[in-house]
Amino acid sequence: MAKKFSNLKDNNNLENDSERIKEFKKFFITTPIYYATDAPHLGSAYTTIAADTFSRFQQTQGINTYFITGTDEHGAKVAEKAKQQKKSNQNFVDEQTPKYSRAWSALDIEYDQFVRTTDPNHKQKVSEFMQEVYTKGFIKKGKYEGIYCTGCEEYKSNKELVDELCPIHKIKPIKLSEPAYFFNLSDKKFIAPLKKWVEQSVFPIERRNEVLAFIDGGLEDVAISRKNVRWGIDCPWDKEYTLYVWIDALLNYWSFAQNNWPPDLQLMAKDILRFHCVIWPAILLAYYDFDQTKLPRKIFVHGFFTLSGEKMSKSLGNIIDPLEIVQNYGASALRYYLLTEVSFGSDGDISLDSFVARYNAELSNDLGNLVQRILTMAEKFGYTKIDRDDECDRLDPIIKQHYSELEFSKASLEVFNLIRKQNALIDEFKPWVLTKTDPVKCQEFIGRVLLRMNYIGKWLLPMMPQASSKLISQVNFESEKSPLFPKII
Ligand code: MSP
Repeated sequence: MAKKFSNLKDNNNLENDSERIKEFKKFFITTPIYYATDAPHLGSAYTTIAADTFSRFQQTQGINTYFITGTDEHGAKVAEKAKQQKKSNQNFVDEQTPKYSRAWSALDIEYDQFVRTTDPNHKQKVSEFMQEVYTKGFIKKGKYEGIYCTGCEEYKSNKELVDELCPIHKIKPIKLSEPAYFFNLSDKKFIAPLKKWVEQSVFPIERRNEVLAFIDGGLEDVAISRKNVRWGIDCPWDKEYTLYVWIDALLNYWSFAQNNWPPDLQLMAKDILRFHCVIWPAILLAYYDFDQTKLPRKIFVHGFFTLSGEKMSKSLGNIIDPLEIVQNYGASALRYYLLTEVSFGSDGDISLDSFVARYNAELSNDLGNLVQRILTMAEKFGYTKIDRDDECDRLDPIIKQHYSELEFSKASLEVFNLIRKQNALIDEFKPWVLTKTDPVKCQEFIGRVLLRMNYIGKWLLPMMPQASSKLISQVNFESEKSPLFPKII
């Protein structure tokens, strides 16, 4: 669901505009824009949930965020799919994109702007940007001779193929032989600034090293136009060509930035590392006359997950339909599972079995039961209001540190250790016995656990917005007691 975004238009004093813009720059977070040909699946949900969680975490720290996500709507792949369905390209994408906005809303994702590359404003801005890069002399005409995988929308080299097929889409790439415009990436002047930026901005380190090795291997010019693909943005200097869809797509981050340039955090998986860590900063360097301060501040590249041990494919992807999980078990449970099952940055495996097992053990049993137990005891035996707790004061900076490093599973582990500790303490203190021998101590104990539950709710809020709000309101007696995570039987 899009959150309310207050803009700055009502201030008429333009004198201090640049200062004002600086002052109001929000922490700018992006996800890749997903191909409009696909429906949202667990993979796209994963990155978007992570971005939303980080954005919510920043907000809990008093930082204003500007978070964008959206759909990639141009190119040969979209045009082919529309043709198969006997629809116009525009009708096809118009029908596809609401699937994403609806899915993100169901998953409690609160972005500020839904990006669409068919947006007229985007097209205009991309045109202006690329014209500038052209005028500055970074683009030259040549001929592209080679192969291209429409599934990846990517120029390929023969050595990337397996049995002559694209290893990702299992299709034979098409042979291309067409005049094309090239971005002059082989120019040696890109090497030092690119490497400097990669060393500071690409995370985690293994991905950074991969990009550095790629740059050291030698950079080649990049074809940035297509002659026979009409579904795209015209090359502003030569209308016989459209811009290569990846250039169009990457520039969404720039065209939808509002006053928040440059991005503070860009999230994606390793499949699109080179586009984001080589081509993307290079075209920005060309546009901004090599001003490093205009480049994205941090790129975090997470891993790929497999489903029950197999690579996620369309058919397999449907085995766990994110929306079906949300309908049955709630968005919070799915968000929690995805964010904590695999350490963010690494590859990993997910499955319905492990979702159910962890839901029952951690969410329903450890957390859900604790809330019900302590609320029942507070009703029965009363409680004292406690304001401070050393254990929570100790944990607070540790958990925040994990969040700020996108270590969602480490943050949740700390929280769940505390949850399990409270369950153990209840078993040890036995308030139902203590109330008879020392009711004051008993009420203090219950008050302390309630305070800790408040912290737990606050710490889990970025990952599980709905369930945590419910938890917080229950432990503050603002709503009726009801199970947070009913057991899956
Ligand atoms: N349209 C391009 C991106 C352009 S951004 C300027 C694209 N789209 S995509 O629909 O294929 O999305 C790729 C992204 O989806 C990955 O980088 C990742 O964020 C997410 N994922 C898709 N499958 C995934 C997994 N199996 N595991 C983790 N993330 C996955 O590429």
